[in-house]
Amino acid sequence: MKSYHDIAGDGGSRILEQVAEQRTRITDGLSGVRHLVAVGSGKGGVGKSTLTLHLAGALRARGLRIAILDADFNGPSQARMAGVQEALFVPGSHKVALPRTRNGIAVFSMGSLIPESEALEFESAAHGESHTWRATREFALLGEILGSFEWGPLDLLMFDLPPGAERTVQYADFLGPRTSFLLVTIPSEVARGVVARSVAALSKGPNRLLGYVENMSGYYCRDCNAIKPLFFAPERSDLGIPCLGTVPFDPEVARLCDRGIPLAELSDTPVGRAVEHVAQLLVDNLDREPRR
Ligand SMILES: Nc1ncnc2c1ncn2[C@@H]1O[C@H](COP(=O)(O)OP(=O)(O)OP(=O)(O)O)[C@@H](O)[C@H]1O
Ligand SMILES: [Mg+2]
Repeated sequence: MKSYHDIAGDGGSRILEQVAEQRTRITDGLSGVRHLVAVGSGKGGVGKSTLTLHLAGALRARGLRIAILDADFNGPSQARMAGVQEALFVPGSHKVALPRTRNGIAVFSMGSLIPESEALEFESAAHGESHTWRATREFALLGEILGSFEWGPLDLLMFDLPPGAERTVQYADFLGPRTSFLLVTIPSEVARGVVARSVAALSKGPNRLLGYVENMSGYYCRDCNAIKPLFFAPERSDLGIPCLGTVPFDPEVARLCDRGIPLAELSDTPVGRAVEHVAQLLVDNLDREPRR
């Protein structure tokens, strides 16, 4: 049986040239983007997508030019949350233009291309081998998306990452040191434990860790207009990175997310104010970021 060592050079695939070519297209495509921020966690279902969208909305309301790349290709949620499920992709001036939300946020989400009733298929070379191909195919696709759409000029490109602590690190690796990370947790030891692993793994690399947001930090009861406990968590999470804010759970937010209605309609609520606070700290931190 031949091994990789038996393949001379690139085996005639021109793989190195192709990778270099794609890297150049990505670098060019992102050259007009001031800040790249990945919203991750490691833990699933903690509100990464929700906070990505609503932080984008808060920053957009300040006049910033924002785009979201829903990097969760298999479980995309931005298309529904941002209300771009039916969006059409049309040619822009030199690449493909991105669909926009009603408030002007550009959004790429697989959910605009593939209906929720269908799964994203990654063909594998051999039956039963999809696990070896998947990450490679996913990142190749991410590269294509970064290289093929009109991203800039932008103040902020936000990556809504899929769950998985190890995948969070893979994204850091792929996106490179220009990308800063904002992590999301919830006040349960189970979630914090996983997010702590993401912090530990990311800390070994060059990416900047901006801090974390504690989502679902209490339950906003509309009947009594008070924040009530939701998880049994006596203390604030200590993840060894700055906490940029706490956001309560508000059932109305979940309802608006399901229907793709912007949070602007909730600006004067505990969630709206909390998101606004995080957005301010995010901008302050990014502006302090040393240029790499
Ligand atoms: N603060 C909040 N108030 C109300 N609902 C929320 C809040 N945060 C998240 N949700 C709801 O919780 C659910 C999970 O949130 P979301 O999809 O954003 O999590 P996620 O971390 O992106 O999940 P995944 O790991 O699958 O990508 C969604 O239905 C969302 O609307
Ligand atoms: Mg998500």
